[in-house]
Amino acid sequence: MTAHEDLLSRRADYPILGRRTYLASHTLGAMHRRTPERLAEFAGQWAEQGVVAWQDWAPEVERIADLVGSLVGAPAGTTVLRQNVADLLGDLVASLDWRGRRNRVVTSALEWPGSLYTWSQIGRLGGEAVVVPADADGLAFDLERMLDSVDERTLLVECSHVLFRTSTIVDVRPLVARAHDVGALVVVDGYQAAGTLPVDVVALGVDAYLGGSVKYLSGGPGNGWMYAAPDVSARLEPVTAGWFGQTAPFAFDPDIAYASGVRRFAGGTPGVPSAYAAEPAYQALADIGLRRIRERSVSLTQPLLEGALERGFSVRSPHDPDRRGGHVSIDPGRGGVSSGQVHDRLLERGIVVDHRPGVGIRVSPHFYNTLDEALGVLDAMSEVLAGR
Ligand SMILES: Cc1ncc(COP(=O)(O)O)c(C=O)c1O
Repeated sequence: MTAHEDLLSRRADYPILGRRTYLASHTLGAMHRRTPERLAEFAGQWAEQGVVAWQDWAPEVERIADLVGSLVGAPAGTTVLRQNVADLLGDLVASLDWRGRRNRVVTSALEWPGSLYTWSQIGRLGGEAVVVPADADGLAFDLERMLDSVDERTLLVECSHVLFRTSTIVDVRPLVARAHDVGALVVVDGYQAAGTLPVDVVALGVDAYLGGSVKYLSGGPGNGWMYAAPDVSARLEPVTAGWFGQTAPFAFDPDIAYASGVRRFAGGTPGVPSAYAAEPAYQALADIGLRRIRERSVSLTQPLLEGALERGFSVRSPHDPDRRGGHVSIDPGRGGVSSGQVHDRLLERGIVVDHRPGVGIRVSPHFYNTLDEALGVLDAMSEVLAGR
């Protein structure tokens, strides 16, 4: 068996790969073949057992939370599932006291817009947002300026592990060291890292690490997740605890007694079907291992990037693979044809990628793609530009 044959033998587990050239796992990972089976299992339990199905559902949701957590190095019991990042970040923010002198969040202008929207409202809780701008072309993360902005007034530092536009890997460690030096917490948005980079949240020393599952994790919508370091979650008291954030939900106690650890962020009734839908894809990644996936990813993205440069296309992602996550942002636009128009023509040809203003076309060969697929997208771009 050659180096990647075992990975390619898994292509049959992702049905879309037989129908399209699928290079959009940075935005919606391919569905696993077993997802419909697990959804049918959920529906069968509901149909046959009714409310008694909670005896299966509640522990299974916790097991699946641990499974997704294990993909970013989180020990059992330190990850919780919620619908999405916005919910989790909002709850984390509301569990902190922003009314004192230490009331600042330090973040960057390159963050996920949904998170920037939260920071734009932080004044309502008494907080103040310090949003570090990007460099002149609006794409590069300014680590030095982030570090300089963190001081005794900082309550929280928030940044992405991998930037969603350019795929730049942010060096989180110096930020964690600086934040902890001054007594601030760090929350990292690992959405674009999880499932493509080996991540060890414990070794990174972050206080919280959150993301969702629609991208490289192939878990579909409805499965946001958050790791919190046990010593941190023990101190945080979310406002919207919900009954699953309580020690014993089925005791229906009117007084709040927070569940131990991060489970206090569980909120209300969990999204059981979403968790069931995600499990096969999480398990596949766990079986392969993130080191292997990363190795494969780089072996596809580097020739893709070099091929794009050889054709004279602009590449808006770091050229050094050690500084780049799982996708390459390529702007092939020229001669009056915009990258958005090239993107539309690619879709018509059955090549699924996506387009983001300012960076062009994002292409993300995942472990289940072939080199021919990754390089074929460049040929297709050239053909579109040549009017073919
Ligand atoms: C870095 C990053 N954070 C967050 C999100 C999504 O946030 P939410 O789960 O709130 O939809 C995305 C993409 O959808 C993303 O790329």
